Amino acid sequence: MSVIWHDLECGSYGEDLELWRALVARHGEPVLDIGAGTGRVSLDLARRGHRVTALDLDAELLDALSKRADGLDVETVLADAREFNLQTRFGTCVVAMQTIQLLGGPEGRSSFLRCAAQHLLGGGVIAIALSAELETYDVANGAHLPLPDITEIDGIVYSSQPTAVRVADDGGFVLVRRREEVSRDGVRLSLEDQIELDPLTARQLEREARVLGLRAAGHEEIPPTRDYVGSSVVVLGV
Ligand SMILES: C[S@@+](CC[C@H](N)C(=O)[O-])C[C@H]1O[C@@H](n2cnc3c(N)ncnc32)[C@H](O)[C@@H]1O
Repeated sequence: MSVIWHDLECGSYGEDLELWRALVARHGEPVLDIGAGTGRVSLDLARRGHRVTALDLDAELLDALSKRADGLDVETVLADAREFNLQTRFGTCVVAMQTIQLLGGPEGRSSFLRCAAQHLLGGGVIAIALSAELETYDVANGAHLPLPDITEIDGIVYSSQPTAVRVADDGGFVLVRRREEVSRDGVRLSLEDQIELDPLTARQLEREARVLGLRAAGHEEIPPTRDYVGSSVVVLGV
């Protein structure tokens, strides 16, 4: 995903940051941020003096993260969350913003959990945000839409308008957005973007983790805001 769209659609979310800070204070560093993107969570924690490893499979996003981390203790790792092998053990592994629901269902999640568990220090935890329920709507049915995210960079206006949340065939959700760019001379480019979230509840994730020898070590709720859905945070320990 390009950096501009990632920043526009994810960058302004802040409701979860206090929780990640508290978990790191309790369970310690270094921190492993899975699916770190351009570093919304990684940079917040690094600015508070924590040592952070930011892992993602998108090189463009990690490149932007590295530039923004100038002088902070952040290492980036280009890898798939389902298959990584680092030389470091971590106190806190953070999986923010439904990234766990992008890993390809139960098999992908198990691969990730196995990998992450092998990278924990004694007393370390994996903290995972997920959204089991989303309110569905569709512009095609005349739904009242949320406000678009809009920014202007170098004279180009970028707008990302959520247009639908639908239930997918597998019981997960399809999030649909219309992305538009309007150039200085008024040329408009428009395309539809879709993201699919795997179906997942906190209970199911805890069950899958238990099979792999991980124990449920906490559960927190992050309420929805006007612009972002709420989430449950499942904390797993070894
Ligand atoms: C919803 S964004 C969250 C970004 C960031 N953690 C935040 O909270 O702002 C999901 C991120 O997960 C990354 N991602 C998706 N699948 C992945 C995988 N299999 N391994 C590593 N990263 C992945 C995407 O590239 C993207 O940056």
